[in-house]
Amino acid sequence: MHSMKALGITLIVVIGVGVIAGAITWAVIATREPASPPELIDLDWWQHCVLYQIYPRSFKDSDGNGIGDLKGITSQLEHFVEAGVDAMWMSPIFESPMVDFGYDISNFYEIHHEYGTMEDFDNLLRRAHELGIKVLLDFVPNHASNASEYFIKSEAMEPGYEDFFVWADALPDPNNASNRLPPSNWVSQFANSAWEWSDVRQQYYLHQFAIEQPDFNFRNPAVKDEMIKIMKFWLDKGVDGFRVDALPYMMEADPADHGGRYPDDPLSGLAEFEPHQLGYTIPLYTKDLIELYDVVYEWREFIDQYQKDKGGETRVIFSEGYANVSMTMLYYGNEDGDIGAHFPFNFDFIRELSDESTARDFAYTVLRWLTYMPAGAVPNWQTGNHDNNRAPSRFRINMVDGLNSLNLLLPGVAVTYQGEEIGGNPNERPEQNLFRNLIFPNKIRTRNRPETSLPSDKEDERRALSFRVAGLCL
Ligand SMILES: *[C@@H]1O[C@H](CO)[C@@H](O)[C@H](O)[C@H]1NC(C)=O
Ligand SMILES: *[C@@H]1O[C@H](CO)[C@@H](O)[C@H](O)[C@H]1NC(C)=O
Ligand SMILES: *[C@@H]1O[C@H](CO)[C@@H](O)[C@H](O)[C@H]1NC(C)=O
Repeated sequence: MHSMKALGITLIVVIGVGVIAGAITWAVIATREPASPPELIDLDWWQHCVLYQIYPRSFKDSDGNGIGDLKGITSQLEHFVEAGVDAMWMSPIFESPMVDFGYDISNFYEIHHEYGTMEDFDNLLRRAHELGIKVLLDFVPNHASNASEYFIKSEAMEPGYEDFFVWADALPDPNNASNRLPPSNWVSQFANSAWEWSDVRQQYYLHQFAIEQPDFNFRNPAVKDEMIKIMKFWLDKGVDGFRVDALPYMMEADPADHGGRYPDDPLSGLAEFEPHQLGYTIPLYTKDLIELYDVVYEWREFIDQYQKDKGGETRVIFSEGYANVSMTMLYYGNEDGDIGAHFPFNFDFIRELSDESTARDFAYTVLRWLTYMPAGAVPNWQTGNHDNNRAPSRFRINMVDGLNSLNLLLPGVAVTYQGEEIGGNPNERPEQNLFRNLIFPNKIRTRNRPETSLPSDKEDERRALSFRVAGLCL
């Protein structure tokens, strides 16, 4: 009885103390400042968009002539809204003899006639903007077509155009006085000498790509001014930015630094290459030159200034260049605080991974980009483009959904090539890739495994290639 009473009192005291302690704890917690939520950063459109590459020649034909066109693209823009695409970039739509499917531009200010008119372009741009889709153009600064006014005037030594391209005298042949030799041993990306003799000017000109694609001389300020003029022309029309082509090849060694002549690239010593093949030399003087980045940083300054002057949504530069990871990262900017492209395209899923890759390889490839990328920069991912075999043929068909999901889940921008949203046909090679192999059979391709042999009749094949992805959006 006595002990029961004691137990009861003890119990009441314990409960009482518990309630008081609980109340105090609750009061303390309740009156404390709530922990501040993680800071949400307002992302600009280009920092988290889905970017869709269109190859105009094969995307959608509006008039049934077998060649895709701008009206065709305009007619399918709703597809992008449904597919969650925020921005599109189009491979070149400018006037061109089509030696390299539009990457040989003869007039940077005109629309190629097979693709439509300037009015068709204006309509495309207006409709895309109505639907909230950004439009980027392919800017090809490394070279022009040899049918361009620039080249014709330069070859004729018209005042102001003499140094628009990289011209050099022939070297004497020590073994044959009536023969001439090119200024250096440089090899074109499409095989054979990167120098072509001009009978008109009695000099060689440089072409890092096809003979019909003479390289602009970026050591000439007039060339740099013209490039800014071209960008401004399209920005004034309302485009949201540019994908910039082939940047690693924009500049070459300056003869002034090499005793007045173009220096030979060192030999690779690899026995499988002949002198006319890429890979016979190491492109020390022809690729990834540090000076070219300054040009890119100037473009960024220009486009940012344009933004300040005109307002509106951010205009962007996305750079293209197959280079090693450190040279690629320099396109973002350098340690001196120069800023370049909003991002350089990331080709690691195309170059580093295949159907044989393991999960570790994927993780390693993703982390490598994020590790090398400057702090605060925006990453991007893509599994295909017009220059490479389609993703399902490089990977496996049953990996396609996983690849698309991974692309969308990773931080930053998801880049996708037309047709990848529906998987893409593994037997279809993007026509740029196919066509280049037809006209430049000596080109050594290291990026892709060899695939089916190709028919030799170029015209038939070219026609058959046109508009392969026809009906994609239907
Ligand atoms: C361009 O170069 C090709 C190949 O050398 C030549 O056949 C063609 O006539 C040139 N075109 C012009 C306009 O110079
Ligand atoms: C010297 O070069 C000329 C011009 O290329 C050529 O026609 C001739 O056959 C060459 N002579 C010899 C001995 O190789
Ligand atoms: C990339 O190439 C440059 C020179 O071309 C070289 O200095 C650099 O070490 C290379 N970086 C990597 C990560 O291989």
